[in-house]
Amino acid sequence: MSFRTTTAVDYVEDVSPGSGALPPRAWYPSSDAASLSLNGSWRLRVSPTADAEDDSFAEEGYDAGDWAEVTVPGHWVLQGDGAFGSPIYTNHLYPFPVDPPHVPTENPTGDHLRVFDLPADWPADGSAVLRFDGVESCARVWLNGTDIGEFKGSRLPHEFAVGHLLKPAGNVLAVRVHQWSAGSYLEDQDQWWLPGIFRDVTLLHRPAGSVLDFFVHASYDHVTGEGTLRVDSDVDGRVTVPALDIDVATGEPVTVAVRPWTAETPYLYDGVLTTEGERVPLRIGFRTVVLEDGLIKVNGRPVLFKGVNRHEWHPEKGRALDLETMREDVLLMKRHNLNAVRTSHYPPHPAFLDLCDEYGLWVIDECDLETHGFTEQGWRDNPVDDDRWTPALLDRAARMVERDKNHPSIVFWSLGNEAGTGRGLTAMAEWIHGRDSSRLVHYEGDWDCRDTDVYSRMYAFHAEVEQIGQGLDGGTHKRRELPFIQCEYGHAMGNGPGGIADYQRLFEKYERLQGGFIWEWIDHGIRHPELGYAYGGDFGEELHDGNFVCDGLVFPDRRPSPGLVEYKKVIEPVRIEGDSSDGTVRVTNLHDFADLSALAFEWSYQVDGETVEAGTLSVPELAAGESADVKLPEPPAEVRGGETRWTVRALLAADTAWAPKDHVVAWGQFPAAARVLPSVAPTDRPVPGEKLVTLGPASFDARTGALRTIGGVRVDNPRLDVWRAPTDNDDGTEWQSGTRYSALWRTLGLHRMQHRLDSVEVGEDALTVRTRVAPAAREVGLSTVYRWTSDGGRLRLTVSVTPEGEWTLPLPRLGVRLGLPASTDRVRWFGGGPGEAYPDTRSASMVGRWESSVDELQTPYVRPQENGARADVRWVELGGLRIEGDPEFWFSARRWTTEQLDAASHLTDLTAGDTVWVNLDHGLHGVGSQSCGPGPLPQYFLRAEPSEFSFVFSVIG
Ligand code: GAL
Repeated sequence: MSFRTTTAVDYVEDVSPGSGALPPRAWYPSSDAASLSLNGSWRLRVSPTADAEDDSFAEEGYDAGDWAEVTVPGHWVLQGDGAFGSPIYTNHLYPFPVDPPHVPTENPTGDHLRVFDLPADWPADGSAVLRFDGVESCARVWLNGTDIGEFKGSRLPHEFAVGHLLKPAGNVLAVRVHQWSAGSYLEDQDQWWLPGIFRDVTLLHRPAGSVLDFFVHASYDHVTGEGTLRVDSDVDGRVTVPALDIDVATGEPVTVAVRPWTAETPYLYDGVLTTEGERVPLRIGFRTVVLEDGLIKVNGRPVLFKGVNRHEWHPEKGRALDLETMREDVLLMKRHNLNAVRTSHYPPHPAFLDLCDEYGLWVIDECDLETHGFTEQGWRDNPVDDDRWTPALLDRAARMVERDKNHPSIVFWSLGNEAGTGRGLTAMAEWIHGRDSSRLVHYEGDWDCRDTDVYSRMYAFHAEVEQIGQGLDGGTHKRRELPFIQCEYGHAMGNGPGGIADYQRLFEKYERLQGGFIWEWIDHGIRHPELGYAYGGDFGEELHDGNFVCDGLVFPDRRPSPGLVEYKKVIEPVRIEGDSSDGTVRVTNLHDFADLSALAFEWSYQVDGETVEAGTLSVPELAAGESADVKLPEPPAEVRGGETRWTVRALLAADTAWAPKDHVVAWGQFPAAARVLPSVAPTDRPVPGEKLVTLGPASFDARTGALRTIGGVRVDNPRLDVWRAPTDNDDGTEWQSGTRYSALWRTLGLHRMQHRLDSVEVGEDALTVRTRVAPAAREVGLSTVYRWTSDGGRLRLTVSVTPEGEWTLPLPRLGVRLGLPASTDRVRWFGGGPGEAYPDTRSASMVGRWESSVDELQTPYVRPQENGARADVRWVELGGLRIEGDPEFWFSARRWTTEQLDAASHLTDLTAGDTVWVNLDHGLHGVGSQSCGPGPLPQYFLRAEPSEFSFVFSVIG
């Protein structure tokens, strides 16, 4: 005989959404009804299984005096220095056996306790609601010893009626939170698994006649310029909007002339919904979203999404974000020209959506749903195609839509992410379409678009995107009628993403392509005392996906990475293109709605990178989509000569909510007079000595021809270098094995090239060193000749490289590496800057004069890798030397070798040595986005081919 025990925790594995909670309704941040935040210090006891402890802790009088204290909102695994367990990172693999709806017996369970008094002025009448805004992954709740219910749906709100249980003082709120539950099968997003009560807990007074649910319908007719407002409310009341003279009953439509809401012009009207018992402030934005002519249109115009995927992340608090952190995200996005955000892969804290309304961002609000791990079993038993789970899916859809429906910023509801296909998804889409016809439905996982209003893909390569733009991609009849977005592209892991400018050109060229969302906003590194930032595996996880969790446009501390700076330039809303031959600049307004009245334009004129004159440029207030040719002033006459260039900038003309006056929105540069390349007449003779050969200011080892000094400066001989510490994109992904360049490069041996010295020739006017640079075990090689000449003062090195054998791989880099003393610190250069650039990430590299320390040249990618190159360098000064390039070169300098950089797994592995290593590169291989997506496009390949390049060295001062 066998039997299964039933326990008090059976709800954990129940596929139903839970019991006891109130129906979902609109979320609003405040009203005149009393409320009490229950955030703060709570008592916590963590036990190893769901049923290790009974529920007596929920009873009044229980003494939790010896329990730990934690902060709510928070995740217990990020508090207590590991005493309560650790975070786990997996991308799509479930960190437990896949046997839905069962979860492991080892199920960390956090019992939370909080005792609270009601404030003295808490109203005696009416009722009360207890609201949880987010608990991962399943919770059971007791108030004053009474079990009030249990729920799943981690990033969704749950409310319980508790008025009848409250007392003036000594209320005991007990919450039992289980890390794993049936709900975990629906929450397989690529992120850390972080149990806890991670969003607010609030007690809301509900006066008699207070607001229940309400739906603000605010549309805009772009033909008449009128908006129609109708607020449907479960409890009758009135709606007032003073600025529009609106005072109507709920349910009554009213049409008046309004300023519409768009992400570019986020005009919100303040209103109030008044019922008998409550006044709720409203922020109303009028806009109409439709699918028309195969395009997503807002207020009658197609929009181009310049977006990003945002997970909620804080390096210490995980997904427990405070308002200021959310605002920082929005401000950073606005300041970097982003206009859209996909809330991957769950509804965010609702305050984030208020910020999107206020500052202006288009939002794809995504449901808390992903079942990606089922892909491992060919999607068998996928909950989204199993009717038993459909109530849970519909519950999630409803909790998202009902909570968030009053945000003008939301233009799409997304069913979830990477959940395959199935009836459950269709049921969600049908329910959403029925509930809210004023927005469109998104889901990427069904390429036939059965349930969606947009054809959405992730990481489609450029060529396919172009084909889709041309409408040549085929697909179902329905799909062919739909617009296209890339809900994820430009995988921002480590150095990169490369190739986004190439995507943007396609998005701008083909109407059907309505833009995309970079993956993703922030690196989910966890602050760690020894490692700097921890990533997958750093907590000893059994299964993990390493640093795949660090793939954002901002570092864990929200400092912008070069990827964000690049993206800002690529998506700038004004294009500035110059033509110095006719002295005009073409300005194109790439906004979808706004004219250029918010911007002021400035020109400046640089001679050898230094601005010699600047002024304002008068640009017409072009409407969205218009361009104009604007005449530039005459170039300053007295400074003709040298390399000259125009720079034109578009700046904010006045302070805005998101950036101050003079914030640079867009810029363009174009050359006037070309650079004069450095020339050194080879007038000096090399003088052979016993140990040294001298030539001009330099000395060389007589036997090896290696450079020793220039002037008084000790120099570690420049020699050919082809290796770089592979980037995450060089490493690529397992599903693109043929093009995982770092592995191919290592197999070929490019990280261990041998330098064979063939001859040192002291000639009449040159010292010539002939070498062959090649990896062990291979026949390919690079015949490399170093030719040194001097005019007595300056020293010129010409490097000639001739590939030998059959080279089938691109080179990581081609240039020389040299060493300078550790005292080398300040770096000045004339070339691209201020930040890093690579062949396919160089849009934001502005030619000018720049200065930095060696340390500041490094880009702190969480997993160390190639970084910090500056493009188009004409000359650089460091360590007492000036190095000029013919032609321009790529420059980088670091206090460790490439090999050390390659070996490091965290930034704390890197320590300064006694040499500053300098790379002067003639070429670099592109970066691409192959950590999840395409590698570099062919035009950014560094092919092994005959090359010649020179550097001129001189001593400064
Ligand atoms: C996508 C997924 C994201 C993330 C990304 C790679 O497939 O939707 O959640 O995993 O790949 O970083």
